[in-house]
Amino acid sequence: MIPFGLTSSGEPAQLFVLQDRDGAEIALTDYGATLVRWRAPDRRGQLDDVVLGFNRVEAYAAHTAYFGAIVGRYGNRIAHGRFTLDGRTHELATNNAPAGIPCHLHGGRAGFDRKIWASEFRPHPTQPAVTFRLRSPDGDEGYPGNLDVTVTYTLVGAGELQIDYLARSDRATPVNLTNHVYFNLAGEQTESILGHLVTLQASTYLPVDAGMIPTGEVAPVGNTPFDFRAPCRIGERIEHPNEQLRLAAGYDHNFILDPRTDPLAPAGLVFEPQSGRLLEFRTTEPGVQFYTGNFINGSEVGKSGHAYGRRSGFCLETQHFPDSPNQPSFPSTILRPGQTWTSRTVYRLSTR
Ligand code: GLA
Repeated sequence: MIPFGLTSSGEPAQLFVLQDRDGAEIALTDYGATLVRWRAPDRRGQLDDVVLGFNRVEAYAAHTAYFGAIVGRYGNRIAHGRFTLDGRTHELATNNAPAGIPCHLHGGRAGFDRKIWASEFRPHPTQPAVTFRLRSPDGDEGYPGNLDVTVTYTLVGAGELQIDYLARSDRATPVNLTNHVYFNLAGEQTESILGHLVTLQASTYLPVDAGMIPTGEVAPVGNTPFDFRAPCRIGERIEHPNEQLRLAAGYDHNFILDPRTDPLAPAGLVFEPQSGRLLEFRTTEPGVQFYTGNFINGSEVGKSGHAYGRRSGFCLETQHFPDSPNQPSFPSTILRPGQTWTSRTVYRLSTR
């Protein structure tokens, strides 16, 4: 446990470091249950940090891009910051406004990414882990019910980071938890992610309106720049004159993962040809928000003193679909008392 600075309210934050036998190293902080660092070998064995982030909690508190954080209670957008559940309408903070249209994003003004979580470090020779716990009280950011959340990060070996989520509530509430890590497989100090090759096992995705809320249509990816069923460079089609790419200023869409008999079968791959690093992800979630860092603008200076420019990191946020509480045709995100909400995502780094 290493001191990681003080939050704006003077709370001390801690850093936890996990190492596996292959030389990979992960660092996590209790501020936002955030993944701060992931050092992994390239094809020549050189270690680089492949996730965007900062060296001190003060920088996390000042920034707005959710680098590495757990986002919640509801990751992604809820239209107009409003939803009706069991006949009652709930008002949430509207902390985002694409095209001037206000919505709720990533849990509100002080979402789970801005809280200090309780932590438990579990050293282990082959599977070190950190468990983070948070109570989100009834009324937190407008959400109903006391929600207890547990997130465990385990370095399971062979370059795999497993993230397990669990939540329980004493009133019905929407829940959609994810990790908002930005990867750059060439190293976090590298300019751009446009040369990475992406494969996603997704035949459909969710087009959005001007406010970046899904229209409700489930659109086939075939013959569009959203077809990543075969590997394609991120930069290949990102500037195509496509209405959806224009609305989101690049990729920032939820892809519906094709049904898998084994829910933890690989759902996607990203390959960076220069370093040879390969990122694979698996998840029990039905969707993934593929975001290409379109809103990063060089104002955040990262851990190696390098300013993060537009599209210098990409996210694969495994999750339920945006705005589900207002979209009856989407899989439900409502957690009821007596139920346990669970979710697992695995990211694996290797080389080729
Ligand atoms: C998500 C959203 C993006 C953006 C980032 C944070 O990925 O979909 O539009 O808000 O978070 O900057």
